[in-house]
Amino acid sequence: MNDLNGKTIVVTGAASGIGAETARVLWELGARVIGVDRNAPDAAHVDRYIRADLGDPASIAAAAAECGDGIDALCNIAGLPPTRGRVPVLTVNFLGLRAFTEALIPRLADGASIVNLASLAGLGWADAVPAIKAMIALRDFGGVAALCDAHGVDDARSYFFSKEVLIAWTLQNRWTWRERGIRMNCVSPGPVDTPILGDFLETLGARAEEDMRVMDRPGRPADIAPLVAFLCSDGSAWIRGSNIACDGGMHSHVLANMYGLS
Ligand code: NAI
Repeated sequence: MNDLNGKTIVVTGAASGIGAETARVLWELGARVIGVDRNAPDAAHVDRYIRADLGDPASIAAAAAECGDGIDALCNIAGLPPTRGRVPVLTVNFLGLRAFTEALIPRLADGASIVNLASLAGLGWADAVPAIKAMIALRDFGGVAALCDAHGVDDARSYFFSKEVLIAWTLQNRWTWRERGIRMNCVSPGPVDTPILGDFLETLGARAEEDMRVMDRPGRPADIAPLVAFLCSDGSAWIRGSNIACDGGMHSHVLANMYGLS
């Protein structure tokens, strides 16, 4: 079911953390991996590297053109942590991700799978629908700061908001490309031990300390990559528009507390 032999898969963020491990797992399962990142990935598990800045529209368009046709899956894994500030965070984590995805749609094979790396941080999306709709309506990469001002999104909130928007946008597009069998889903990890874990702990402060206290351990890239690989495989064809938690039980923990089930 997880056989990816003969599939061509584009992985953004392939140079580090979850993206690097995903590239490795996909490659081990037989896929031809195209890594897109601003930094060069480990060449051992990437058949082709395309350098791109996913915060820059011209670079995004050029990278999408370079990917070629017949792509069977796109894993949108590149992302910035909350310490980078609201404009870069929302530009890379949502506007750039969406622009790259939309540029690749004509190049995807029928039946292709798109997997977006969201986060447990996006859990509260339903409480921010007006701001999320405004962000989804924004096409101008220069308009992020004004949108944030209008909706009270500061640097600390921007990472949460970027993942809320991503989950909502994925849900909204559950059937957009259904005639071609193209599906899109999110994977939402809890805290994962990668180079940006420290950034999360720094931004979230006491809340992160509490999360780490109730968790038995932080996630590892190897906990996340197999799920992304499954979503790239034909065995997951009926999963569409979903947001799948992969967090050692943290999502359930939050829900159980919220509904008095703990
Ligand atoms: P990481 O920092 O190890 O890897 C991110 C990769 O994205 C890097 O290779 C980086 O070069 C690339 N990237 C960043 N900005 C870019 C840009 N403008 N253009 C091209 N490439 C760019 O981070 P990690 O932890 O592997 O995160 C991967 C994804 O998983 C992110 O979307 C993150 O938000 C998400 N995530 C991470 C969690 C964690 O605790 N580490 C938890 C939940 C979600």
